[in-house]
Amino acid sequence: MCDNTIDCSIKQAIDALAVPDLLIGHRLILKDDELTLNREEKASLPFTSLERLRASGAVRNVAREIMKSMGFVDFPILRSTCGDPIWPAGVVGSMAHNTQIAVAAIGLQRELEAVGIDIENVVPLPPDMLDLICTPLEIHAISDYPLGTKLLFVIKEAVYKAAYPLDHKFLDFHEIQVDPARRIAITSTGRKFTLHWYVSSHILAVATVRNKSITS
Ligand SMILES: CC(C)(COP(=O)(O)OP(=O)(O)OC[C@H]1O[C@@H](n2cnc3c(N)ncnc32)[C@H](O)[C@@H]1OP(=O)(O)O)[C@@H](O)C(=O)NCCC(=O)NCCS
Repeated sequence: MCDNTIDCSIKQAIDALAVPDLLIGHRLILKDDELTLNREEKASLPFTSLERLRASGAVRNVAREIMKSMGFVDFPILRSTCGDPIWPAGVVGSMAHNTQIAVAAIGLQRELEAVGIDIENVVPLPPDMLDLICTPLEIHAISDYPLGTKLLFVIKEAVYKAAYPLDHKFLDFHEIQVDPARRIAITSTGRKFTLHWYVSSHILAVATVRNKSITS
């Protein structure tokens, strides 16, 4: 069940992604979501604006619900000083939000080494950001995809969120090379990510690395 057009559209996107061994949840960001942050979580966040706290509260609700379904109850989701969320031992996850929607993706380390998620509105990438985000090769490779260069941006943000907890290294957009046809991205640190995306009312992208001990 979903409540309105955006809600239904994101649900459809998540169902279509069907990322193996990954639970993805979402919700609309609501008034008072900021009040659901516990004291520790709020103290770990570096911002004070109501809108930002509300989004962080909403996304933690989504993540907490998923974790509850996995048996992790009442676990506060703190933000490290570098921004990445701190998960319980054995858990990998990622969160994203815009002004309307919060999404979280959570899995277990025994199946997934890393996960990153991003969501953005379906508006084109501003032309003056093109060179910052994409290489000419990537622009060519993505030219047949709707909102291609914006999609590259969303994918790279998802990859960054997946890569950061592994290497603790800031990555410039050009340090992430996306091959849309093979649905992979490779970082300058030598990591290879599998990509999943869906474009509907929003652009939703997920990057994962499977645990090497899993063969299928
Ligand atoms: C990390 C970053 C990609 C987040 O994107 P954003 O558009 O600001 O925000 P989103 O809503 O998509 O995601 C926010 C969530 O990302 C997560 N996040 C923040 N920094 C993170 C990091 N270093 N690693 C993993 N996840 C991170 C947090 O869970 C955050 O939620 P919170 O603020 O409620 O705690 C971006 O802010 C950033 O730091 N970029 C700098 C690095 C960069 O752009 N490199 C090039 C990318 S290719």
